[in-house]
Amino acid sequence: MNTKETMHPDCEKILFSEETIQKRIEEVAAEVDKALPHDSVIAICVLNGAVMFFADLVRKLHHDIQFDFMSVSSYGDGTTSGALKIKKDISANVKGKDVLIVEDIIDSGRTLMLLKKLLEDRGAASVKIVTLLNKPSRREVDMYSDFNCFDVGNEFIIGYGLDYAQQYRSLPYIGILKREIYEK
Ligand code: PRP
Repeated sequence: MNTKETMHPDCEKILFSEETIQKRIEEVAAEVDKALPHDSVIAICVLNGAVMFFADLVRKLHHDIQFDFMSVSSYGDGTTSGALKIKKDISANVKGKDVLIVEDIIDSGRTLMLLKKLLEDRGAASVKIVTLLNKPSRREVDMYSDFNCFDVGNEFIIGYGLDYAQQYRSLPYIGILKREIYEK
């Protein structure tokens, strides 16, 4: 049996420990605090990957922030910006509101580009994005988050919300999955 105190056997390397993650989130929360208005901000957690990051980030903000949750995925043929599939929508009406999207990773950039546009089209007063991880080598569209905790290389990242086939999300650290696991 694995305990979470030791590195999971499927993990090649720990990139960011629990302590490193918490310290960095504290710094990013301070940036978000400075940049956002101090009332009626709605933070949207993009399920499932962002759950841990969202829970830690909002506790470090000084804003009394509203929460909402959304589950989306982007699809397309690779030549267009694609379309957004909404698997679970938010409950809040964002018209006239300042919105903070909280996402685990920006990869091709398609999901966040489409989600930001959707919220703007619904009349949000402003839409800012905070990401835990940025994988710039995989970018396919001109999209960046406003705040980001860590840049990562083109490796399979697991832990702290991020999965492979729905596994490893509950690891408290961020690591690289062994190649033999996803190539077998
Ligand atoms: C991941 C991640 C982003 C998206 C990023 O979601 O949470 O939503 O992919 O990729 P992109 O920049 O190429 O669009 P995933 O569909 O794996 O769902 P999950 O959060 O439930 O793991």
